[in-house]
Amino acid sequence: MKIGNNIPNKSIDFRSYNKLNPKTKLPVSTSFYNDLATLKKSVQIIENSFPNGADILIYAGSNGEEAISVLSLLKNPEKYKIWSIDIFKEAIDYAKRGIYSVNRFHKDGFLVREKDLTEDEKQAKSCFEKCVDEIEEPNFKLNNLTDIPYLLRLDCAGFIINKFFKLKSFVTDRITFAEGDIRDLKTFKTDKPIGGIFFRNALYHLTNNDLRGVLGDGNKQDMEINRFQVLKDLTDSIGEKLPQNGIFVMGNHFQEHIYLADKYTPSDKRVPIGNNSLMLEPPHILALMQNGKFKPCYTQKIKSPDGKSLTVPLIWQKNCS
Ligand SMILES: C[S@@+](CC[C@H](N)C(=O)[O-])C[C@H]1O[C@@H](n2cnc3c(N)ncnc32)[C@H](O)[C@@H]1O
Repeated sequence: MKIGNNIPNKSIDFRSYNKLNPKTKLPVSTSFYNDLATLKKSVQIIENSFPNGADILIYAGSNGEEAISVLSLLKNPEKYKIWSIDIFKEAIDYAKRGIYSVNRFHKDGFLVREKDLTEDEKQAKSCFEKCVDEIEEPNFKLNNLTDIPYLLRLDCAGFIINKFFKLKSFVTDRITFAEGDIRDLKTFKTDKPIGGIFFRNALYHLTNNDLRGVLGDGNKQDMEINRFQVLKDLTDSIGEKLPQNGIFVMGNHFQEHIYLADKYTPSDKRVPIGNNSLMLEPPHILALMQNGKFKPCYTQKIKSPDGKSLTVPLIWQKNCS
């Protein structure tokens, strides 16, 4: 299928989608099927708990690749409506265009490779192919290269072959891309019950928990923000919005699970790290436990920056009134 001249040549240049939001300086990058295991489990729980359909709210949906992945994994997608919501307008403009690229060196490169795929990757690839049509290279820049080939300008040299895709209409019919802030969740209206609220790899945006800066470049940590209170307000609003059996899904990046101390953290609840300190107790877990409506129903092992293995709960189900 040829595409190009009838698309407005509006410059939304995501060469290297690993870009930062210029205002917050925090990453807005994503990929298709990011943490496939958690996505598959979330979809399975939602379809079991809401067999007659539900709305699924994907906050921090970035450029839409997470929502497309979720839709593609549903066994009965026609019963569900997905909202892909992000605070960053450029990401929503990108998503609304409905055209994506994948290259074999990105995290989701398995989607355009034929060999060496795991069974899970093969399954995800076939789900993806049902949602998109391959198209020729559009006449606007559209790359999602990881930083290294981008910085070395290998993409310009034509070594990195991207494949380009356009969403099929049943996908654009089922997903609404919208600009929005999860802090306005209380006023968000849906027709059906909400089967799941996703906010993955973005808790650190809300809490200014930029651990990479602090551990890597030696930035000073933000001591003024009350990280526990921010997480408590968020998880309380999620608890109010979800019906019984609805799920809250979080990301598996270590910044979601290890928190910088702030001025409200008592001294006996801090662990020193270089010139900074971390919270001894993960505030998001404390907030969810204090809320009392949630139980963890899926955990995963992740690696902390010092190489230690941590088991973290990623899916929380509301099962108390
Ligand atoms: C690192 S990306 C994660 C994207 C995707 N969820 C994933 O895990 O691959 C974080 C995203 O969260 C968005 N975000 C940050 N704060 C937000 C908020 N308050 N409400 C909605 N989206 C937000 C950012 O704009 C960015 O696109």
